[in-house]
Amino acid sequence: MQGITVRKEEVSDIKAIDVVHMSAFEGDQEVGLIDSLRKSSSFMPDLSLVAEFKNRIVGHVLLSRVRFQRGADGMDILALGPMAVVPSQSHRGIGSQLVKAAVDAATEQGFAAIVVVGHPEFYQKFGFSPASRWGLHCNLPVPDEIVSAIELKPGALGSDGHVIFPSQFEKVY
Ligand SMILES: CC(C)(COP(=O)(O)OP(=O)(O)OC[C@H]1O[C@@H](n2cnc3c(N)ncnc32)[C@H](O)[C@@H]1OP(=O)(O)O)[C@@H](O)C(=O)NCCC(=O)NCCS
Repeated sequence: MQGITVRKEEVSDIKAIDVVHMSAFEGDQEVGLIDSLRKSSSFMPDLSLVAEFKNRIVGHVLLSRVRFQRGADGMDILALGPMAVVPSQSHRGIGSQLVKAAVDAATEQGFAAIVVVGHPEFYQKFGFSPASRWGLHCNLPVPDEIVSAIELKPGALGSDGHVIFPSQFEKVY
């Protein structure tokens, strides 16, 4: 969509980001999740991206560190979400721009994979596949079908791995 800029968040964006999530989701659970992640070691300011339209924040996506474990081997990968676009601007490609920018930023930072819980058909447009492709499970009480992932480094997810989301996510799922 023309006129949309995706950039890293700035401290002065935080209230506007909260408003985006409050408007897109029912309730304030996602705002609470983002707030508690901000205070944790999972948070990386460079991987919290906003979509700006006419100098207003209209969308936001957060990537944060989660632990990937496979047998005795482990590494930090990224979780995508929460993500939201203000309802008045949805279905115009802003969410797609945010996901693409998130994948690019994660690649630039050298992460090996991203996992996401959400509408699988949406994320598959950007190269994500069902987590079942890798026999990948996570610690959240969600159906396997809504967990997707993308390898940014081929082979990174191997098979039968486990993603451990920080406890902050458990309040939302
Ligand atoms: C999901 C969301 C971020 C998409 O943002 P967007 O700017 O509308 O996304 P785009 O315009 O790039 O893409 C729209 C496409 O996303 C998909 N999509 C959007 N909402 C969806 C939903 N609830 N279920 C399945 N697919 C959905 C559809 O394929 C849609 O295509 P369409 O416009 O032809 O109907 C936005 O709708 C939103 O904030 N929703 C509420 C919060 C939410 O569900 N966040 C994501 C959690 S996984």
